[in-house]
Amino acid sequence: MEKTLVIIKPGAIQRGLVGEVIRRFEQKGLQLCGLKMLQLTDEILEEHYAHIVDKPFFPRVKAAMKATPVIVCCLKGMDAVHVVHRLAGATNGREAAMGTMRGDYSMSVQWNIIHTSDSIKTADLELARFFKEGEIFEYKQSYLEYIY
Ligand code: PPS
Repeated sequence: MEKTLVIIKPGAIQRGLVGEVIRRFEQKGLQLCGLKMLQLTDEILEEHYAHIVDKPFFPRVKAAMKATPVIVCCLKGMDAVHVVHRLAGATNGREAAMGTMRGDYSMSVQWNIIHTSDSIKTADLELARFFKEGEIFEYKQSYLEYIY
């Protein structure tokens, strides 16, 4: 079983889409094993988005990600990193396939509802960045045998 990170971004929080995002992941069969609200800072955003800090649009990304608190989630499941990334859809909401979260709820690259880890290695790094020890839980879900 893999674990992956989802950040529910300020755009989704402003638009009241938090429940919808979590509902879709739960209905797919992913297990929620960590969840908290936090206010992102320049420091953590410069680390998290290290690959785009030099891009001209990065100041806008930072401002958008700090517009409200965000919600970070740890989701667990078989091939969870790939499955969650696909459920999010392409970065640009206008290009993302219908049926994906960005395809259904976003018209933007910047206001694209959620961030999801894009590889197993990134997921491990990102989970460690946003969750402290003891904030990710292991527990049995009785219906798991009906999912796999
Ligand atoms: S990468 O290199 O593949 O990770 O890049 P990408 O996935 O395309 O984008 C990384 C994050 O940068 C944001 N982004 C932008 N914001 C505003 N304007 C422009 N032009 C732009 N291009 C990329 C994008 O929302 C990505 O955020 P996450 O949180 O990863 O979805």
